[in-house]
Amino acid sequence: MTEARITLDGRTLEVAEGDTLLDAARAAGIEIPTLCHDDRLDPFGGCRMCLVDLEGTRRPVPACKTTCADGMVVNCGGERLQRVRRTMVDMLLADHYQDVAVKDNELERYAVEYGVEQPSLRFDRRGAYDDRNRFIGFNPGACILCDRCVRYCDEVMQCTALEHAGQGGNALVQPTQGKSFLDTTCELCGGCVSTCPTGALYEKQATRNGAVTEQECAKTSTICTYCGVGCSLDLNVKDGRVIKVTAETGVGANDGHLCNKGRFAFDFIHHPDRLTEPLLRGDDGELHPASWEEALARVADGLGAVKQQHGPDALAFLASSRCTNEDVYLLQKLARAAAGTNNVHSCAAT
Ligand code: FES
Repeated sequence: MTEARITLDGRTLEVAEGDTLLDAARAAGIEIPTLCHDDRLDPFGGCRMCLVDLEGTRRPVPACKTTCADGMVVNCGGERLQRVRRTMVDMLLADHYQDVAVKDNELERYAVEYGVEQPSLRFDRRGAYDDRNRFIGFNPGACILCDRCVRYCDEVMQCTALEHAGQGGNALVQPTQGKSFLDTTCELCGGCVSTCPTGALYEKQATRNGAVTEQECAKTSTICTYCGVGCSLDLNVKDGRVIKVTAETGVGANDGHLCNKGRFAFDFIHHPDRLTEPLLRGDDGELHPASWEEALARVADGLGAVKQQHGPDALAFLASSRCTNEDVYLLQKLARAAAGTNNVHSCAAT
């Protein structure tokens, strides 16, 4: 429902109640740079990258945090705002320079866009930090204190495993009370990494695997098979190997969120011990590769023998939560129609 009519870069737009200027601009295809903003989080207004000129106000206002009101006249571009944004990038870069593991981050892309090769100032106030957890790396030297990670952990995960501590030149983001992630309420979901715009938080596996830019990877969209929720995710593949798992915001049931298994537990894909073909135990007591026909025949013989000797209810069928709904449906068909038992269950209860 239209609640307000505003003018944005000379265009008259009708906007809904509660829309911010950023929402209105995006809906109209007008690009406004943002750094501390994440659609999944409450507006914050901390980085000032999204400043726009609002007629009748002395200073630019943050588009991400300003709600549209009837009659507003707003300009989102122009030389002055470009200068302001360039200055913001310059100041933010002063905080961001120490061995950044993830080069294709939002801040560095803005640095290129606004032509800031070297920041005018340097702040060296946060030392290296090597957390002992396996998945999430943290380099405070690259942090710009936008608090996206802290807010994600708080608002989305409700874990509060990260905090913004200290003030002024001593301010820093850290796992709560400066502990290891493993000693906080962190669930190692990696959501903080996914929202970090500077690469201060990064995936240890991805950097260990040698791929530091998502652009180097081909993306294959798929559905997570770890449980019945069915989260959408993208496998980032380089040279035939999955380097990392990401999830797009605004897509699927999960809106960019993943649990620790969905995001990090993919090493099994290329593990040398992974079963890639059926194995049958031979008379020598060892497992030997077999065809699917041979393997299924062995299973059918075994189940048939149990049924004949003890009746159908001596059998039970258990489906993994990694099966799809269709797989589980077929399993219960097999149990009921072929084996004659209602002893069938899925650990996902789908
Ligand atoms: S994106 Fe609006 S202030 Fe940071």
